Amino acid sequence: MQPADIIVASSLLEPATTVGAVDLDDLIPGSAPWELEIGFGKGRYLLERAAAQPEARFAGVELAAKYFRLVAKRIRKRRLSNVVVFRAEALYLLSAMLPARFARAVHVYFPDPWPKSRHQKRRLFDADTLDLLLRTLDVGGKLFFATDHLEYGDMVRELLESHPGIELRVVEGEWDGGPRTNYEAKYVREGRPIRRFVIERSAATPAELLHPGGATKILSATASKG
Ligand SMILES: C[S@@+](CC[C@H](N)C(=O)[O-])C[C@H]1O[C@@H](n2cnc3c(N)ncnc32)[C@H](O)[C@@H]1O
Repeated sequence: MQPADIIVASSLLEPATTVGAVDLDDLIPGSAPWELEIGFGKGRYLLERAAAQPEARFAGVELAAKYFRLVAKRIRKRRLSNVVVFRAEALYLLSAMLPARFARAVHVYFPDPWPKSRHQKRRLFDADTLDLLLRTLDVGGKLFFATDHLEYGDMVRELLESHPGIELRVVEGEWDGGPRTNYEAKYVREGRPIRRFVIERSAATPAELLHPGGATKILSATASKG
């Protein structure tokens, strides 16, 4: 996806394409805290939270145009003025468009597991991309994650446990308040086991936030230039 394909919509704006860093305060003015959902699908969680908490601001990113359009339409219909959605590749948005430390919470529920080993490099969570996710969190901010793909869940847990800049809590049982998203509601009905984690950013500086796996790659790339 080219940067120019990134489309932004909220009930305050006409859908518009954008490129480069976004000024979130320009999209939704105010000083209320921000939360971000990645891969919001049909938007159940994002829309419910935005309606229930008008005193907070919400941003969502979704790659699939049909889900983006569905949710953008619902935002306008429900006149929600505290939520903005982006149709974009999440990693591009995280690395090039969103500011560091803007969010008090980031939510990632049932990201595509890419089960075939040759496709696993497409997963959202690995040592390189975790830093991008964590970078958007304010110090003390939380990342919420769930998956029904147990191998992916174990891989994410290992990655998180070996990260020096975060505290990991494994959630036993369901979230307070029950299933958050459409996928979660379906899988709970089917009785599938689900892995749920809450991660708190404790690291204060960007350097402390680098996962050793990702950092090693950055350092070796730099060294190989010399
Ligand atoms: C398995 S669905 C889960 C949807 C929703 N979170 C739920 O739990 O019901 C994964 C969603 O992530 C979106 N997605 C996958 N890769 C993405 C990416 N790189 N950037 C943004 N969204 C992405 C997909 O389009 C899809 O809507």
